[in-house]
Amino acid sequence: MTTSADAPTLDLTFGGTLRIPVIAAPMFLVSSPKMTLESCRSGVMGSFPAHSTRSRDIFVEWLDEIDEGMAAMKSAGKKPAPYAVNLVVHPTNARYEGDLEVCKAREVAVILTSKGAPEEAFQEIHGWGGIAFHDVASPRHAEKALEAGADGLIAVCGGAGGHTGTVNPFALVSEIRAMTDVPIIVAGGINHGRSVLAAQAMGGDLAYVGTHFIAAEESRANDDYRENLIACSSKDVFLSAALDGAPANWLIPSLERAGIDIDELAVTRPGKIVGSTGDKVKNRYSGIWTAGHGVGAIAESRPMAKIIQQLVDEYDAAKAELDRKLAI
Ligand SMILES: Cc1cc2nc3c(=O)[nH]c(=O)nc-3n(C[C@H](O)[C@H](O)[C@H](O)COP(=O)(O)O)c2cc1C
Repeated sequence: MTTSADAPTLDLTFGGTLRIPVIAAPMFLVSSPKMTLESCRSGVMGSFPAHSTRSRDIFVEWLDEIDEGMAAMKSAGKKPAPYAVNLVVHPTNARYEGDLEVCKAREVAVILTSKGAPEEAFQEIHGWGGIAFHDVASPRHAEKALEAGADGLIAVCGGAGGHTGTVNPFALVSEIRAMTDVPIIVAGGINHGRSVLAAQAMGGDLAYVGTHFIAAEESRANDDYRENLIACSSKDVFLSAALDGAPANWLIPSLERAGIDIDELAVTRPGKIVGSTGDKVKNRYSGIWTAGHGVGAIAESRPMAKIIQQLVDEYDAAKAELDRKLAI
């Protein structure tokens, strides 16, 4: 077991800047500098994937915009939550080393690493005083990430948006908790303040919230995506690895519109999706939308500040309700 004696104790309030133990999860083609800044301003750790920027120059521009926004908040006497950058730390990501260099030059405080778990990446991040939270979908992934020196584990459980894990959150978090006491960030279906509290109760430390924020006004989601999110609930979410080879949750109406037969999809091998014309669906993000099981809570597009304030209010109410229940 990796104990806190092995791992330095992290301040998970990040200097009292988090109003609620939540990270706004990185989302390819959805996260934006504005969304990241508004998360941090509202007391939630904001984040974005480096690979969501089309080039290194644009990555640097995004970081400039965020750093300037953070500096402006600080000089106005505010204490924003820190932001994090998501890096795919895998040799298949051609941009990995250069993007890591950029993060090093900026001394980005938190790096959310996904795929692979190279020790050198974690060492590099620790070298500039940063911390690395690594995505895991199984106890085996967790073991490898701990061996390599991850500071925290993002348990991507069944029901998450984007590429998802498939294990039930109670089961995955307890198996990981049995092997370590490093922070666990629970991901998958969290769309209410009471679920944030539940993530802590089940042995987690922070909640990772993606889908619930896709329709935020500051996100890069287009109108069609927003309309699909508002119209759908958990019954409309379909798990398949057939589109791009890894298990991901997709909105059924968007699959059907692309001519994909759901019954056929259910028996299609990973990466072999077939549309109505018999062609492979080339661009999974052109009108085929991903969302997690928590999509049912999205009723409209709202500013990040409002969505987060609601989560904070729900979290506070859930704590009071739980106190009452436990007092009986
Ligand atoms: C549209 C979308 C894009 C995503 N892109 C990424 C990504 O680029 N990198 C990553 O690590 N996770 C990505 N994810 C996964 C999220 O970071 C997070 O694990 C997930 O959204 C949590 O589950 P939830 O959507 O049920 O809240 C994406 C999720 C969504 C919904």
